[in-house]
Amino acid sequence: MEKKNIDWANLGFGYHETDKRFVANYKNGNWDEGTLTSDDKVVISECAGVLQYAQTCFEGMKAYTTEDGHIVIFRPDLNGARMEDSCRRLEMPVFPKERFVDAVVQTVKANAAYVPPFGSGATLYIRPYMFGSSAVIGVKPAEEYQFRVFTTPVGPYFKGGAKPITIRVSDYDRAAPHGTGHIKAGLNYAMSLYPIMEAHRQGFDENMYLDAATRTKVEETGGANFIFVTKDGKVVTPKSDSILPSITRRSLVAVAKDYLGLEVEEREVCFDEVKDFAECGLCGTAAVISPVGKINDHGKEICFPSGMEKMGPVTQKLYETLTGIQMGRIQAPEGWIKVV
Ligand code: PLP
Ligand code: COI
Repeated sequence: MEKKNIDWANLGFGYHETDKRFVANYKNGNWDEGTLTSDDKVVISECAGVLQYAQTCFEGMKAYTTEDGHIVIFRPDLNGARMEDSCRRLEMPVFPKERFVDAVVQTVKANAAYVPPFGSGATLYIRPYMFGSSAVIGVKPAEEYQFRVFTTPVGPYFKGGAKPITIRVSDYDRAAPHGTGHIKAGLNYAMSLYPIMEAHRQGFDENMYLDAATRTKVEETGGANFIFVTKDGKVVTPKSDSILPSITRRSLVAVAKDYLGLEVEEREVCFDEVKDFAECGLCGTAAVISPVGKINDHGKEICFPSGMEKMGPVTQKLYETLTGIQMGRIQAPEGWIKVV
């Protein structure tokens, strides 16, 4: 199959329209069977639930070309399960996870020419999402919904690729205790736009959010979970009911333990401890593992010994093993790789 003529190596993390997308509609209590379409436009009521009360959630995963030329998707079943959780919390109808995986596979297959070649540094980002499409004016759930999946070829999430970034401690909260921080609701991202733009205006790449109740514990960033490495080589990652349960983080925990023989602690992480860690990284589908070189806490800097030039050694090993598994260079644990 002939690939599109795209400058893969210079792609950023942006939207690039591809040929086909999957669309299914929910009406009268049932999902239709769904179909692939070339039409990239969505037509809905001016009073749609998504437009008035932000009734929408989404997912993100990636497809890769392996060295031997297969197209594979990383753990789409977990994205399907997480989207079910998001839908329940937002009073949206569940799109069953088996059908979710099938829709994702259909969409990737139909856009195979856009899956970046092995070794190009780019991947095909897959964006499933759902929204309330029928009119609501009182505050209540919509009666009709649309589930869609589109794809877009992407490069690194942070400009500069694997270079360490600088983040700041945010004065804004991302998620309330008992709120929606643990699901992938569009509203979580809407409220992060002001803080992220403010961070950029001040010269920072991202925000570190602390827990809203006490502002003493590390939560996550606007689009990724944290991973830390202690000076004696242990991996530490924050546990909280108000962060998104990152599939990348869960995979890295397994990689650290089972492939690299490292000790892993998933626990509450006090911001006070952060200055004593040796390495820090952001992990997620888009971020993969993006190393953090510096954290600015209201003018006070925490500079990790790994510096601003390259990833720390443990982060590097985690990165190489995870991407090796994703791209088929390293044998994956059972069930992690879906061949398209
Ligand atoms: N945290 C937030 C807020 C995110 O938006 C994402 C991205 O999906 C993640 C963490 C990482 O999750 P995952 O590894 O499942 O992509
Ligand atoms: C992802 O990593 O898939 C995300 O959703 C993060 C960001 C692009 C919102």
